[in-house]
Amino acid sequence: MRMFDLITKKKRGGELTVEEIGSLVRGFVKGDIPDEQMSAFLMAVWFQGMTERETGNFTLAMRDSGDCVDLSAISGFKVDKHSTGGVGDKTTLIVLPVFAACGGVAPKMSGRGLGHTGGTIDKLEAIPGFRTTLSETEFFEIVKREGLAITGQSAELAPADKKIYALRDVTATVDSIPLIASSIMSKKLAAGADAILLDVTVGSGAFMKEVPDALRLAETMVAIGEAAGKHTVALLTDMDAPLGLAVGNAIEVAEAVQVLIGSGPEDLKTVSLALAANMLVLSGQGEYEVCAEKAANALSTGLAFDAFCRMVAAQGGDVSAVKDACKLPQAAYKETVRATGDGYITHIDAEKIGLAAMALGAGREKQGESIDMAAGIYLKKKPGDFVREGEELAFLLTNEQERFAMARFILADAFRAGEKPTEGRPLVLARVTRERIETYLSTGR
Ligand code: URA
Repeated sequence: MRMFDLITKKKRGGELTVEEIGSLVRGFVKGDIPDEQMSAFLMAVWFQGMTERETGNFTLAMRDSGDCVDLSAISGFKVDKHSTGGVGDKTTLIVLPVFAACGGVAPKMSGRGLGHTGGTIDKLEAIPGFRTTLSETEFFEIVKREGLAITGQSAELAPADKKIYALRDVTATVDSIPLIASSIMSKKLAAGADAILLDVTVGSGAFMKEVPDALRLAETMVAIGEAAGKHTVALLTDMDAPLGLAVGNAIEVAEAVQVLIGSGPEDLKTVSLALAANMLVLSGQGEYEVCAEKAANALSTGLAFDAFCRMVAAQGGDVSAVKDACKLPQAAYKETVRATGDGYITHIDAEKIGLAAMALGAGREKQGESIDMAAGIYLKKKPGDFVREGEELAFLLTNEQERFAMARFILADAFRAGEKPTEGRPLVLARVTRERIETYLSTGR
C-alpha cells in the first residue's frame, strides 16, 4: 500500500478501506509515513470529507494506537463527559460532582486549554495542591471511594491523535468535521467509560460557529460512539457568549463553587444541570424529568458541593481555598472596561473574550506554555442587560501589567449594544441520540 496511492484515492473522493486506514495510521505513528504525505492526506480529507464508515475506522485506528483504559475494576456504570470547548466553560467542575452526588460513577480524563478555549485541568490546578497527574491505581481508588476523579490525559492514550493533531494544527486542517469527530472520539473510546455524554458547543466561542455544522459534528460523534458499542448522546449548547461571568482559571473555579453552593450565574447552572441530568439518564437512573429533579436536588441540598470537596481533598487540593475564594490565586493588577454609550448589550463575542483572557495570561497560544492562574476576565454584563455610558462592562485581571494593552485592543469591539434587547436563543439547542435529534430546550438567560 503506497501512501501516494492513498492520497490520490482520497483526493479523488474515494473511500479508504479499513486496511488502508489502519496502515496509514500505524505507518504515521511508526514514522514510516513522513509529515508531508500525512499533511497532503489530511488536506484531501478536509476537501473531500470521509464517509461514516471511514470516519469510524479512522477513529478506531487512532484509539488502538495506544493504551485503552480498562475500567472494569471500578464497579458501576461509568459515564464520561466531554465538551468540544468554549469560553468560560467550567461545567465539568459542576456536572461531575452533581452526577457523583446522585450515585453516578465518573472517571474523567481531561485536557488543558489551548488558544481561546480553556481546559479543565488548568482550572483545577488553580486550587493550591490539586494534583492532576494521578497514577492509574490512585485514579481508580478515588473513583471507587468518591464516585469521581479528574486526571490529565495520559500520553499513551491515542498517541496517533496527538501526532496527527500537531500536524493539523500547522496545516489548517483542524476544522474538518470527520477529523474533529475522530480525534475526540478516539480519546473518549480509549478512556474506557460505558457511555459518553458530549457537549457540542456552538457559536462565536466554539469550534462550530453555526448550528448545522454543530449538528453534523454531534451526529458524527454519536454514530462513532454507538458503532463502537458505547451509548453516546450529544447536547448542542450555546457558546455565542461566554458561559457564566468568569473567564480564566482561579476565577472560574470560584464561579463553579458559587453554583455548587446554590448561587452563581443562571446560564451556567442551567447548562450544567442539563448535562448532569443527561449523564444520569445515560447511567439508567430514569427518564429525563426524574433525572433533572435528582440533579437539581443534588445542588440544592449541598451534596454536590460535598462531592466536589471530597474530590479536591482526595487529589491533594486545599479545600479551604475552595470554601474561601480569597485563598485562590489573586491577580496583582485589575483594570475596568467601561461602556462607551447607553444601550442594551446585544452580543458579547466569546472568541474575543477568550483571546483577550489569553492575552492577559490566562491561556496559552502553544502547547506547553505556562499560564497565569489568577489572570482572566470577569464580565459585569451579559447579553440582554441595559448599560449606561461609563458603567462597568468587565474587569481585566493579570499579574503582568503590560498585558492590558493587547487585551484592550482585542476587546475593542467584543461588546455590541443596541437600542433594543435581542431575543436570546436557548442555551441547550438540541439533543442528539442515535435515533433522533430533538431541538429545544431551556432558555435560562
Ligand atoms: N478537540 C480535539 O480533541 N480534537 C480536535 O480535533 C478538536 C478539538
